[in-house]
Amino acid sequence: MLNAVERKIEQFIEDLNDKEVKKLYKKLPKGKRLRAKLILKIAGSSLSVVKTAAVVEMIHGASLLHDDVIDDAYTRRSKPSLNALYGNKTAIMMGDILYSKGFFELNNISADVAKLISNAVVQLSLGELKDVSLSKRFNTDKSIYMEMIYQKTASLMEASAGAGALLIGKDKNAYMTYGRNLGIAFQMIDDILDITMDSETLGKPALHDFEEGKTTLPYIYLYEALESEEKSRLRSLHAKSLSKDEQDWIKEKMNQTGVIDKSYNEAKELIEEAISLMNAQGESALSDIAKAMIERSF
Ligand code: FPP
Ligand code: MG
Repeated sequence: MLNAVERKIEQFIEDLNDKEVKKLYKKLPKGKRLRAKLILKIAGSSLSVVKTAAVVEMIHGASLLHDDVIDDAYTRRSKPSLNALYGNKTAIMMGDILYSKGFFELNNISADVAKLISNAVVQLSLGELKDVSLSKRFNTDKSIYMEMIYQKTASLMEASAGAGALLIGKDKNAYMTYGRNLGIAFQMIDDILDITMDSETLGKPALHDFEEGKTTLPYIYLYEALESEEKSRLRSLHAKSLSKDEQDWIKEKMNQTGVIDKSYNEAKELIEEAISLMNAQGESALSDIAKAMIERSF
């Protein structure tokens, strides 16, 4: 079924009748297509479902193109990012093309679905802005971090699940909670993997988040757990390029204080809630997607 979504995106790109865009699209890694999977598992594979899934993946792809420019990221899913290959200007414009074509197509689906998705895109843009602003200082406030990841990552998964439910006439509330929990947990795990995975497996440099100024949940918990002198040391390492010794110190402190497990368990709780919700609806395929997320190692 995901194949139908790939074909639909290719067809939307073909519609644009532009050789350069076609070439650039081929350079983009496909990714897990998690949002499309959710929509298809909830709503089947009618034409409007496939179109919605295609549009959501185009919007998501656009947001990652912009995000890699914002984050100065030169790899995406172990491949060179578009900004690394062709520069920021091309990456931004390719993002704009994917995004605006996606929005154009969204208008042909249904007003309710269009509202849900477009509101999520506002949220994800607000979330990304918050992420950028937060990285200018050492954020120690967990609730601000949680709100930011909800907006940046979970809002589009929540809306994707809700759109799927709307398209097939299911009650959207349980599905939206499921999507929200999955999205928050996904970003929490992504942020944990930035610390625990080696750069090769991760497909991007490890501890990149902290070097970029992002104090993700394990850093917030670590800061809470450290003595005052060590708090100052952690602060002094924030938002700068780290030596091997400095990286090792951070990782060792995280091990000693158990903050990775603490963060991971919180993600797991959200996933468990998502699984129970879907079990109650008899949606075993959706429960399985949630289970796979918590077992993900990269
Ligand atoms: C990845 O976060 C970024 C997002 C999930 C959202 C990015 C959103 C925007 C750039 C604004 C919206 C723009 C458009 C065109 C719709 P991350 O940097 O923490 O994750 P990563 O490790 O995957 O880079
Ligand atoms: Mg990024």
